[in-house]
Amino acid sequence: MKTLKKSGDLLSMDDAYIWHPYSPAPSSIAPHLVKSVKGTRLQLDDGCELIDGMSSWWAVIHGYNHPVLNQALKDQLDKMAHVMFGGLTHEPAILLAEKLADITPPGLSRVFFCDSGSVAVEVAIKIALQYWLSLGRDRKKHLLTIRQGYHGDTFAAMSVCDPVNGMHHLFSEVIMPQFFAAAPECRDDAAWDGHDIEEIKNILAAHSDEIAALILEPIVQGAGGMRFYCPEFLRQVRALCDEYDLLLIADEIATGFGRTGKLFACEHAGVSPDILCVGKAITGGYMSFAATLTSEKISEVISTRGLKMLMHGPTYMANPLACSVALASIGLLESYPWEQRIAEIEALLEHGLSPCRFLEGVKDVRVLGAIGVIETHEPVQVQKIQDRVMKQGVWLRPFGHLIYTMPPYIASDSEIEQITHAMCTALAE
Ligand SMILES: Cc1ncc(COP(=O)(O)O)c(C=O)c1O
Repeated sequence: MKTLKKSGDLLSMDDAYIWHPYSPAPSSIAPHLVKSVKGTRLQLDDGCELIDGMSSWWAVIHGYNHPVLNQALKDQLDKMAHVMFGGLTHEPAILLAEKLADITPPGLSRVFFCDSGSVAVEVAIKIALQYWLSLGRDRKKHLLTIRQGYHGDTFAAMSVCDPVNGMHHLFSEVIMPQFFAAAPECRDDAAWDGHDIEEIKNILAAHSDEIAALILEPIVQGAGGMRFYCPEFLRQVRALCDEYDLLLIADEIATGFGRTGKLFACEHAGVSPDILCVGKAITGGYMSFAATLTSEKISEVISTRGLKMLMHGPTYMANPLACSVALASIGLLESYPWEQRIAEIEALLEHGLSPCRFLEGVKDVRVLGAIGVIETHEPVQVQKIQDRVMKQGVWLRPFGHLIYTMPPYIASDSEIEQITHAMCTALAE
């Protein structure tokens, strides 16, 4: 797009017309104008160049403007930008569905393509509710989840977000009531503590006939607190879902495609969910796209009983551009030893962030895969920290008590060092 507008004019227009995420309109703090992006770098209009330590909210795993992904989009654009998915199908969707069924945990063979992560969660919830309705178990219409989760901003997704951090208080009249158990305390690297599963057991013993599914983010709870928990918790949850006849929904929208050191975080526990949500990094950060996968058994029940169909179908479902770039992004990941690179990034993050453990005000420093987190005792002064890391050439977006990074997998050693150094010095200052 050619623009003749000056940056000042553009920012005034942004102010006048746009609503930014979780912001008043106009924004209380002016956003930074991005001119171009390449590799790990954001080029701002004022000439400032920043390493993106956020991967644009976990998505840009291969870096920006990647020639392979650009080419996949260009090739697809010349063939077919979009076609409705009702009654029609196309090669990119078919190949991507086969690929997702192949690389996700065993047993997930039926793919529903969605527009965004939140919609993938809506679809997962709908599949779970429709499954039990189809079996005549219409009392099973609630969900069980753990506190400090985040699953998106649409209404069903919001209903399973943490009731305190989330937006329950705002929409209490309309948010579906769900069951909440305490989030596990047992860390990913600690010995298992059976206490963590007790509340779930108690809820299930009393209410399993009302619960359709248990939904959680496996191993890493992302936007609800950047918490990492013990794989044994996930194994016990899986076993309880089987024992009490409910479905397990794994929301891997943030963790999928290698971020935690495994292709999918469920693999840390050797667990397969009944329903899996993937999004964010699925297109390498090129466009909004997601998918909900389930088993043949569940899709067969929904397809042969009751209404005999899944009641969902977005206009832009399985958009061919998104499917093509997703296929190319997964292909890129498979083209190099990404597990080794994530392990190296993990070691660099650990090494770079560990000095912060001794800083005043720091409650915890934790690292898993390509995720590095500093948790503070007091809420972070977001603007101050952001300004300071930007002065050191790094883009981060702290929230709550957290300063964290999820760099692109292509970030070099020195770029990871620059990110962790910026985090430590911003805090120390
Ligand atoms: C675990 C998880 N689920 C769902 C979502 C919602 O995805 P989207 O923002 O694409 O709607 C997010 C987004 O941060 C997420 O981290």
